[in-house]
Amino acid sequence: MEQEVLQYSSEKGIIITKAAFEILKNSKRWKEILDYSLEKRNEIIDEEFIHNFVLRQDKIKIKEEIRVVRSGERERVAKERRDIESNFKILWEYDITGKIKSSGKIEDFNKFFKEKFEFLAEILRKRGFEGEISKVKKTKKREQVVFVAMVSEKWKSKNGNLALRLEDFRNEVIGVISKTNKELFEDGENIVEDEVLAFEGNVLSEDMILISNFWKPDVLIGGVNKAENEVNCLFISDTHIGSKLFLDKVFEKMLNWINLNVGDKGDLNLAKKIKYVVFAGDMVDGIGIYPGQIDNLEIKDIFEQYRVFGDYIEKIPEEIEIFLAPGNHDAVRRADPQPALGKEFRQGMENLGNVHFIGSPSMLEIEGVKILPYHGHSIFGLIEKISFLKPTNPTKAMEEMMKRRDLFPCYGTKQPIVPEKRNYMLIKETPDIFVTGHIHYNEYATYRERLLINAGTWEDITPYQLMQGQLVVTPGRAVVVPLNKFEIKERKFLGE
Ligand SMILES: [Fe+2]
Repeated sequence: MEQEVLQYSSEKGIIITKAAFEILKNSKRWKEILDYSLEKRNEIIDEEFIHNFVLRQDKIKIKEEIRVVRSGERERVAKERRDIESNFKILWEYDITGKIKSSGKIEDFNKFFKEKFEFLAEILRKRGFEGEISKVKKTKKREQVVFVAMVSEKWKSKNGNLALRLEDFRNEVIGVISKTNKELFEDGENIVEDEVLAFEGNVLSEDMILISNFWKPDVLIGGVNKAENEVNCLFISDTHIGSKLFLDKVFEKMLNWINLNVGDKGDLNLAKKIKYVVFAGDMVDGIGIYPGQIDNLEIKDIFEQYRVFGDYIEKIPEEIEIFLAPGNHDAVRRADPQPALGKEFRQGMENLGNVHFIGSPSMLEIEGVKILPYHGHSIFGLIEKISFLKPTNPTKAMEEMMKRRDLFPCYGTKQPIVPEKRNYMLIKETPDIFVTGHIHYNEYATYRERLLINAGTWEDITPYQLMQGQLVVTPGRAVVVPLNKFEIKERKFLGE
């Protein structure tokens, strides 16, 4: 070995001190050390250089050991997740998938509104608001009446009072809210057309009442379902794969975290318990969704966009159940209610047993918890109609939907809707967790003990959003909810 060390070092022109030579001639790693010296352009190999080399190797070894421990940990966690038996149901009766039948005729709209009226009126009647508009004609002037009605028109009278045309598919009457009744007047201003309410008022004439109070069909307090055990559900939305502004590195960081590759101890504990992922729409950016979109597309082929999306989804461990709802950028019809993504776009995802395609809206029952995913296409329409709503407060708009038991309370806005045979936009069953996307703004709230979540985005702000006046987005945030506790745990992946 002595000769070999001498020959190699002279060939390469490496100078070795006497003490270092004594070590090298007895080391199996002499060549590695000489090569390392060449790599570092080191002039003389002395004892210190060899010492540093050994230290460096040790560090690499330690790092490898950590990696091994982590991959061992991953195996253990994967096994734990597999051992938790998946406990979920997709409640297809609340999902349009496979049931599109509407021809968009006037009769379809009539039926659609009638179903809405009957369903919401029934809720209000059960709460004691019985009676029909026909009562007004039979009641003496100034006496009180109570009835349920749909608001078909809203306007301000010449005197500045609020006037509402109220109908119940049999009769109609005008309801007036006096501007002197300030609190009620303010509430009244946020009534939207086609809303169903219970009214109380005093008869002014046979076709007019002075409204003294009104009530929404609202969800009730109590009866919230929580999971028995600590199982986490991750809520994400709006990846917009294919957009130049999709934050691939940030999203990959999140996927690494689910795979327990990054993060500190606390973070990993959160990730370890993730057994479900609910995605609230806009998987891809799509094609031709808004004017000039082509300039913002990195991937201009819709199938390729879904293939790349599928590659990302495949990185989520197979023990985790994934529910994918569409949004207005996805390759399903643009109008609400939207069916699940078609088979032709599912690419490799179709064969993954843990991936489930659902509509928007839809209803899941995960570990006994009712979860309502809806992309949230109607939110901007609501923001236009209700004065106190704004894009940086999407859960307030969600709260307004819950109060009206309707995900699409305003018709005639820019957002399209199809009158299907059944009104899938009604909140027929109260969800325990209601999740939307679309607004690209993470926000969380509790309404009557139910969780409201806007799951944000993984796309940076687009020129189109800026042009539309939306100035803030919150990309790169994952929302985790332990389904037994209903606490919001937000993990930020951007800017760390
Ligand atoms: Fe979006």
